[in-house]
Amino acid sequence: MTTVSIGWSDAFFDVPDQGSIDGGTTTAGPLWHIASTRWGHSMHTMCSYHGMFPAKLAHYFIQRYSEPGDLVVDPFSGRGTVPLQARVEGRRTISNDLNPLGYVLSRAKANPPSWVSVSKALAALERGYKAVSQAEPDVSGDIRMLYHPRTLKQLWYLRNYLLRHNLQRWSPEELMIAGALAGIMHGGHRRDGSSQYLSISMPNTFSMSPMYVERFIAENKLMAPDQNVFERIRDKMARLYLDAIDGPTGITHAQDAPALLSGDSVRPGSVDLLVTSPPYLQVVNYGTANWIRLWLLGVDDVGREQGEGRRTLDAALDHRHTYSSYKTFMLRVFRGVGRVLKPNGIAAIVIGDVADPRKEPLPLAAKLWEDVGGQTKLELVERIDDHLPVDKKVSRIWGETKGQATARDCVLVLARKGADLSEKSAEIDWDEPYADGGPDAAHVRVRQIGLAEATYSAHQR
Ligand SMILES: C[S@@+](CC[C@H](N)C(=O)[O-])C[C@H]1O[C@@H](n2cnc3c(N)ncnc32)[C@H](O)[C@@H]1O
Repeated sequence: MTTVSIGWSDAFFDVPDQGSIDGGTTTAGPLWHIASTRWGHSMHTMCSYHGMFPAKLAHYFIQRYSEPGDLVVDPFSGRGTVPLQARVEGRRTISNDLNPLGYVLSRAKANPPSWVSVSKALAALERGYKAVSQAEPDVSGDIRMLYHPRTLKQLWYLRNYLLRHNLQRWSPEELMIAGALAGIMHGGHRRDGSSQYLSISMPNTFSMSPMYVERFIAENKLMAPDQNVFERIRDKMARLYLDAIDGPTGITHAQDAPALLSGDSVRPGSVDLLVTSPPYLQVVNYGTANWIRLWLLGVDDVGREQGEGRRTLDAALDHRHTYSSYKTFMLRVFRGVGRVLKPNGIAAIVIGDVADPRKEPLPLAAKLWEDVGGQTKLELVERIDDHLPVDKKVSRIWGETKGQATARDCVLVLARKGADLSEKSAEIDWDEPYADGGPDAAHVRVRQIGLAEATYSAHQR
């Protein structure tokens, strides 16, 4: 067991023996930087997401400030890092994201179906596809240019199947299939030309604009690979289910975060730990960065400036604020946090510094807390500045965005005024009890059947 002891009052001096292994460091010592960038449950790799934080950061706060059975909440859950990591560590979770992609990924991970049931659901879909001749896809040129005609036909069938219901009504199996599929919609090819992704070769973290992709395809004479979507999903699923998935059933919402924290979905005074990362100031547009995956989920034309999907998402998501309106938005978030935390609960809120190329970097979290902290029921327990070279970040920011994230994130560790934090654990256990607890029962059964068949054939010879 690797146990790291962090003293409450002298966190900076009582640091572990190990140093940072990813080049990062914080003002309180290496903390989560002592774990590898790949640390965490296998299901985290479902789908890359712009602005995601590493599982090891979520784990650090889960271990330090909560116990099994506690309620852990993330109101801006993105790809679902917090609900997954908290669930597999035995915590109850409530997650939430207003972006349909964030909602689907979070809900798939908060309550994953068993390997057996998701494999059966996929097999039934494949039989359904083969049973009748399929309609020609009715899709825009933006989507058509990315895929081989046979791949697109399968995608079109799966999309129509999923969209027969509103995504709020999707079953755990449908959410898992949609999440895994979102994760392979686009990505880079290997040197030998093979790929785990369905599209022409392009980055998997975010979608470049349709115009850029069109030019890129023409200039590089790219050919879309003839991928069998069902096979690629099965490969992906096998990787996601390598670790055991046991844990309490998590709940996921698709609401405006301040409304979630002030409404009926989270009871006042019920939350042991809140770990979250709200949108930074104009750093990532969660619509355009995901226009291809959002098409899969039924949101059209997000890639185009005046597209219907783009306008809807831009109106809903809080990624376009000025500093003044961002302050108002975050004050509502902080007030909601103050309402839902238990008297001795903790909130860890990760906010990155923002750099406008023409101006000095804005230490957003520090300034925000200075400007609005006094109007809340919360007090600052600790401010952890986290430095990670930009090229090592889980998500890097590319040229498309107006503002830019910098190498520095800041974690505001907050509690309700007057909280007694003396009982909080100082132990961080970096063992992963779920790791290699997979392949889960289904993989084991498949292997047993294979072995039995091999033994039988050997006896026959
Ligand atoms: C920095 S990302 C969170 C990333 C997450 N920690 C992860 O590891 O994937 C911020 C998220 O907030 C969501 N969001 C933006 N405005 C929102 C709002 N008003 N209510 C709820 N979610 C919102 C975005 O869709 C995005 O997924």
